[in-house]
Amino acid sequence: MKKIRKAVIPVAGLGTRFLPATKAIPKEMLTIIDRPTIQYIVEEVVASGIQEVILITSEGKSAIENHFDYNFELDTLLREKNKEQLRAELERTSGLIDVVSVRQKKPLGLGHAIWMARHVVGDEPFLVLLGDDLVRSETPCCRQMLDLYEQIGESIVAVQRVPMAQTGSYGIVEGEATEHERTCKISRMVEKPAPGVSDSDMAIIGRYLLMPDIFDILGTTTPGHGGEIQLTDALQALSKRRGMYAYEFQGRRYDAGDKLGYLKAIVDIALEHPSLGGPFREHIRTLCGHEACRL
Ligand code: UTP
Repeated sequence: MKKIRKAVIPVAGLGTRFLPATKAIPKEMLTIIDRPTIQYIVEEVVASGIQEVILITSEGKSAIENHFDYNFELDTLLREKNKEQLRAELERTSGLIDVVSVRQKKPLGLGHAIWMARHVVGDEPFLVLLGDDLVRSETPCCRQMLDLYEQIGESIVAVQRVPMAQTGSYGIVEGEATEHERTCKISRMVEKPAPGVSDSDMAIIGRYLLMPDIFDILGTTTPGHGGEIQLTDALQALSKRRGMYAYEFQGRRYDAGDKLGYLKAIVDIALEHPSLGGPFREHIRTLCGHEACRL
């Protein structure tokens, strides 16, 4: 079984749901308290034991690469001003990962973005994390998937149960339970099913562990929904070619590319923050008593 060493993070999307904020700033750089969303995602990769990150970027996304780079002027300034704690934090951020970036020249879809990584990934299985999908858990979500991979040696998509009324917003998988905990063998995948098309509530989220065969398939996948090369179409083909598993991860997931999901992430992370959590909780309590709150 080949070891997994690389994680691909596509960040080349337009982020239209966050306009006008994302006109000049990548949505992955929107802040949750004091660090951008992308940093939480990269920290998950690192905590899972992976060091090599391949960013799929586009024009206007250089702030993301800069964020993980060393800034000599800032380092010198903080040193001169004796702001050692801040300086150490910046040093830690720039030392987190080795970044390789690949340009996706046109936003032709998530499937196309991943295909762009083929030369850098090569012939080995790899992880994919969407740049705006946050997962908070005791054991990092990617680590949970890597542990399962070590037992089954095939592709895995992370899933969460969603209310049936919301299945039309997700890629939905159907499958049979296996002897592995929280794991199904996938028999069918349906992208954003219309009511009545599938009775499954298992929705794909932004974490994938893929065999390199996906690149051949993506290379011949024709544009689907919205004229984009859809990852789900290629996953469906891969699941037919060899086994693919759905893993119900343990943890809480936030769609930080969506305004409500982003707000939920900020509130939850703030409530658990070591120094801000207490005063923030107090603030929420005062809001609950406020008539405008209507809780
Ligand atoms: P989304 O559809 O959520 O991102 O893609 P988007 O297109 O940036 O956002 P909206 O819908 O316009 O607000 C999920 C992930 O895939 C990346 C995005 O950057 C995001 O991390 N993506 C999407 C690409 O890298 N390239 C694409 O062509 C499309």
